[in-house]
Amino acid sequence: MEHFAIIQALCRVAMSNPSEAVRRQVERLVEALKGEGNEKQAKSLSTLLSASEKRQEMAPSRIRTSRAMLAGEELTRNTALPVDRETSVPLVQVYFPDDLPKDAPYFEGHIREAVTSVMEEWQHFDRLEEASIKPARTCLIYGPPGTGKTHLALWMAGRLALPVVVARLDGLVSSFLGTTSRNIGSLFSFAGRYRCLLLLDEFDAIAKLRNDPQEVGEIKRVVNTLLQHLDSRSAEGFTIGITNHDGLLDPAVWRRFEIQLQVPNPSFEARVQIIQRYLDPLSLPDSHVKLLAWFTGGSSGAELESLVRLIKKNHVLRPAGKNFLEDLKLIALMSSGRITHFNRDLLFGEIKLLLIALMSDTSLDFTQTEIAQILNRDKSTVSRMLASNSQDGAISEVSHG
Ligand SMILES: Nc1ncnc2c1ncn2[C@@H]1O[C@H](COP(=O)(O)OP(=O)(O)OP(=O)(O)O)[C@@H](O)[C@H]1O
Ligand SMILES: [Mg+2]
Repeated sequence: MEHFAIIQALCRVAMSNPSEAVRRQVERLVEALKGEGNEKQAKSLSTLLSASEKRQEMAPSRIRTSRAMLAGEELTRNTALPVDRETSVPLVQVYFPDDLPKDAPYFEGHIREAVTSVMEEWQHFDRLEEASIKPARTCLIYGPPGTGKTHLALWMAGRLALPVVVARLDGLVSSFLGTTSRNIGSLFSFAGRYRCLLLLDEFDAIAKLRNDPQEVGEIKRVVNTLLQHLDSRSAEGFTIGITNHDGLLDPAVWRRFEIQLQVPNPSFEARVQIIQRYLDPLSLPDSHVKLLAWFTGGSSGAELESLVRLIKKNHVLRPAGKNFLEDLKLIALMSSGRITHFNRDLLFGEIKLLLIALMSDTSLDFTQTEIAQILNRDKSTVSRMLASNSQDGAISEVSHG
């Protein structure tokens, strides 16, 4: 080959810190040289390739992670992603540790403990294996929409300093049904080749298709392919599946996940914490935050985040508005899907009824001073209203502040 000395020098420079793409091109060159009968030149480039592999093996990160399940090549930003053969649409999205969320979603006590246990297990994978304990490699996160499932999985990967290969199964499936199994195959072989966490988001997409009578044969094949790949991957790397339609998942799929984490809509206390988190740097009196949390019963974390964004915008655009109840009404109108009819009726109805509702809910534990602050009335007016309602027998217990 002409100018081989220069090409060899180029390869040496490139292989000193090779990306996967560079390595692949050098491999191609070796094959091409062999094909032309240039055995000697091919061999000198092969030597460069194997020397680089040895160097990689000695690199600290490799040693640190080679013990556990994290064997495999390093995934870089230059790695070519698998694509759907017909449409060339990538089958996965890759996030690197620097791009992953630094804060976990807020969860109440027992969920937080469960998440911490999973993280401990995964972070001390080597120690468990040394003690001949087989750590779990698969985790299913399920719960209603917007409860922070995807965020949680991405955060977990960040804590493990692993890139995440995210497969939106709905994307894989909705391309061409005939090629779904092949796509799933490409996805798993990609995830198996690299050191990563495989995230199967919207996992129910496959199960949902089973309801389509026209697709029964195909879906059986797809589910079987998926099960086979999940089985073989369970010896390779971490996998997280996510669904918000757990009822639709095939029982055989459920069984494949050793850890099963349910993430429900946040409780009252959790809503208070989530609201506080998103309010920052704006701060509201505790009574206002509690009131918001109360009005948003049944909302997800994602809905609370949107609602707080509205509050903050409102605060910037209407700084003069001191009446929180009026602010809340405006927000309820602009965010009608996030506040129940019942609560909206209370908000826009007679003030006495709202007062009764607030005072009789023990979880709120409002003092009269706080109620006065919320209703934008003075404390004596609130006391009078409460007294008249007590006489009517509407409120039996009243807290004092
Ligand atoms: N518990 C929570 N604490 C803090 N933020 C939350 C919480 N739940 C949701 N969020 C916010 O909502 C955003 C969207 O949540 P995410 O996409 O993770 O929900 P999901 O459960 O995956 O929803 P879906 O089922 O619709 O995919 C998060 O990035 C986060 O900003
Ligand atoms: Mg999600």
